[in-house]
Order: sequence, then structure tokens, then C-alpha cells
Amino acid sequence: MRQGLAEIESSEFGYVAAHGLRAARHAVADYLRRTRGVVADPRRIVLCSGATQAVALLAQCLDGPLAMEDPGFWLHRMVLRHNGIDPLHVPVDEDGIDVDALTACDATTVVTTPAHQSPTGVVLSAPRRTELLEWAQPGRLIIEDDYDAEYRYDRAPIGALQGVAPDRVVYIGSTSKTLAPGLRIGWMVLPAHLIARVRTAKSLADTGSSVMDQIAFSQFLTSGAYDRHLRQMRRRYLSRRNALLAALSRHLPRAEVLGAAAGVHLTVRFPAGFPIEELTRRATELRIRLEPLGPCYAEPDTAPPGLILGYANLTESQIARGVEMLGQAARGLGAA
Ligand SMILES: Cc1ncc(COP(=O)(O)O)c(C=O)c1O
Repeated sequence: MRQGLAEIESSEFGYVAAHGLRAARHAVADYLRRTRGVVADPRRIVLCSGATQAVALLAQCLDGPLAMEDPGFWLHRMVLRHNGIDPLHVPVDEDGIDVDALTACDATTVVTTPAHQSPTGVVLSAPRRTELLEWAQPGRLIIEDDYDAEYRYDRAPIGALQGVAPDRVVYIGSTSKTLAPGLRIGWMVLPAHLIARVRTAKSLADTGSSVMDQIAFSQFLTSGAYDRHLRQMRRRYLSRRNALLAALSRHLPRAEVLGAAAGVHLTVRFPAGFPIEELTRRATELRIRLEPLGPCYAEPDTAPPGLILGYANLTESQIARGVEMLGQAARGLGAA
């Protein structure tokens, strides 16, 4: 922040650019172009308070029915509803979002997580990617939530959809998985026809994100420190992920693991009929907080018994100990 402040004019601290400082939008554009293949014109970028604000602002600017993945990120579903949109639900399978089902519903916009589906962790397959891009005819829009694409372990990175169809895709990203959710730093790259509307929505929401944060983040990006941080974290999270996989196969061998190739979480599914509420209750008694899959489903009661397991913020020994205790809690329930 100190380095950034040394280079900035005091005029940048007025109510000048609700969509973000020029320097910060340029730094984000360079980064997205280089790492995600995004067609990132800084004039099309709106900096915002995380992916969550991006979804809220877009909800205020879009017309027509909107669909999201089922299961999907429960918070985004709530944000959409809070902004007057009741999303249609499109199922997800092991290839990602079901594009036939998307076509069959009336939606003109879809919110999707192609690089690492939230929550299942599956990656949108190449054929589905093509189908989804074909779905995005004029008048239709894909909102690509690229929330954790920086982390990829067992396969080559796949570029953002936006890079192929920049006029049909809104690209969303944030620092919540790479630095910390509490920073509330995020961005959108918009098709030309949405720029004015989304800028106005951002301006009316809060007149712009904190200039201090934008200065610090753009300094972090342009100095190369963000790249160094990501390289270091990739190695660390790979070890943590491997520790989690090893512990799961040892202590919960009947749990099916999904989505381990990327991101900072994976999901496990238990055999049908497994009493996930009872496991969650027993785990709580052991002071282990679990996140079941249920709330991510439009109809939580129909969710398969499963858990979302984040591993980025735990040491390898905490992971090993936690899963061992989970295995003990699951004893007699049909998963161990
Ligand atoms: C699917 C998805 N998108 C985006 C985010 C990040 O949201 P934000 O940038 O508002 O913290 C998360 C965080 O958990 C997420 O799961």
C-alpha cells in the first residue's frame, strides 16, 4: 500500500471512478489476459466487492429468465433472489452443466462455474464447453464465475470461456480463494452492451470500491508478488489436498471423492441412504464443523448425502487428525 501510494495523485481519492482506478483495471486486465486467456480490455472491467457483489449488480442489470447450476453456490442463489430473480435450476453431472437441460428451459442468462463446478468440483468437459458456447446465441449471456481457477493440480489449465466469446460472456473473479475472503476484492469483465448499465449499478450501490485496496492490489499484481504467492500456494495446497485424499482413503474408504483436480475444496459422496445429518451431529460434538452438500441443492431434501471439504486453510496434520476423527464418527453409519 505504501509503495502504491507513492505513485498516485491525490486526485485519485475523489469520487472519480466507481468502476475502479485506471491503474488497477489495467493491472487486473494484464493478469487475466496472461493467466486465464481472458479478452480483457480495461475499459470493460468493473472492480467490485468480490464475486458476490458482481452477481448482485448483474442481477440488477439483466432482463429475462436466469438459470444457475443445481447444485450451485447457495449464496449466489440467495443473492439473486434478494435482487428479485428466482433462478431456474439446471442439473450438473460429471461433465458439468447439462446444456440440453439449459436449452430446454427458458433462460436467456446462465450463471456457471466451468473451471471447477461449485460445489461438485467437476470440470466442464470439452464437448459441453462447445455446446455451452453454441447455446450462447445473440440475446443470451453466460456469467462465468471463475472463483478458484488459479489452482489446478493434475491437469493442464483450461482457459476461460470468456476468451472465446467475449461478447456473450461476463467473466467474474475475486481474491477470496487466492488471498482472503475478507479483502472483498473482485472484478467483472463485461460485454460492451452491459458496461454502462453495470457501471451505473456499481456507482449507485456504493460509488466504488476502496481506493486504498485497489492501489495495494494493483501494486501486488504489477510487482510480480501475486504470481509468486500463487506459485507458492499451489505447492502448499497440493500437499494439503494429497494429505486429505490419503486420509479419506484410509478413514472413509466408502466415500466417493469428486473434484480433487483443482480449486481449494473437494466433495465426498456417501452411499445412498447414508445418514449425513447424524454424521454432522456427531462431528459437531467432536468440535469438527462440516459443510454438507444439501444447501447447495435447489431442493436440499433431494441432495445426495455428501460433504464439501475445504483444505486450503488447514495444516496437513490438522487434516489427518480431522479425517481420522470423522472416520470414528462415521463408524457404524455405513461409510467407514
Ligand atoms: C462459487 C463461488 N463463487 C465465488 C466465491 C467467492 O465469492 P466472493 O468473491 O464474493 O467472496 C465463492 C466463495 O466461496 C464461491 O464458492
